[in-house]
Amino acid sequence: MKTIIINASPRKNWNTAQLLKETQKGVQSLEVQTEYIELYDLNFTGCHSCLACKLKNGKHPGCVWKDDLSPLIEKILKAKSLIIGTPIYFGEPTVPFRALMERLVFCTMPYEEGTYFNGRVNTGFIYTMNAPKNYYDENLKPYLTNIENLFKMALHGETCSYASCDTLQVNNYSMYDMAYFNEEHKKQVRETQFPKDIQEAFNLGVKLGKQ
Ligand SMILES: Cc1cc2nc3c(=O)[nH]c(=O)nc-3n(C[C@H](O)[C@H](O)[C@H](O)COP(=O)(O)O)c2cc1C
Repeated sequence: MKTIIINASPRKNWNTAQLLKETQKGVQSLEVQTEYIELYDLNFTGCHSCLACKLKNGKHPGCVWKDDLSPLIEKILKAKSLIIGTPIYFGEPTVPFRALMERLVFCTMPYEEGTYFNGRVNTGFIYTMNAPKNYYDENLKPYLTNIENLFKMALHGETCSYASCDTLQVNNYSMYDMAYFNEEHKKQVRETQFPKDIQEAFNLGVKLGKQ
């Protein structure tokens, strides 16, 4: 069984991706197979509310909508564990993250007692954001925990998360209209805190690989 690692950032080599690649190394250190997926390379939408996933004589669990997400959902439901990394955009995970969540979570649940999914998939979340850690703790964490709980309800596994805060958004702030940010401070956080975040991302991979 594999660990599926999903990058829900459009940038393939920036903060979220760098952390996810370390998480992947953590999982692989336990000789667990992994598959790394760039969510922005796939062609899909959120739930179309076709309700086919809840048909009495339907195939459960599964999302039958024909796009790139349905086979990924099938893979996730057969995985050992799932790791998703997302930047925070306007206080939320990215739109593709949300689309995946709608489709994955909805297709595991009938609108009545019970579940269509009898397996168990542990899920890890990596968040990256401009906001400092105290803002994340006070304002974002409660909302993101609710999202994590949806995965817990759907996939019956444990969840864990790590937030990398105050990230470096661009290499050269002087090229952009970004005067709200202090480049010196951002570079210092990058040099002193980000290596710790990288280590925490690796540890999260080891934790999920062991479970
Ligand atoms: C459209 C957009 C909206 C953003 N909104 C927020 C936000 O609400 N809060 C925040 O802390 N950072 C916000 N950011 C910053 C990113 O979350 C941050 O730079 C993140 O580390 C980027 O991840 P990446 O390097 O993997 O692309 C936003 C960035 C973009 C492009």
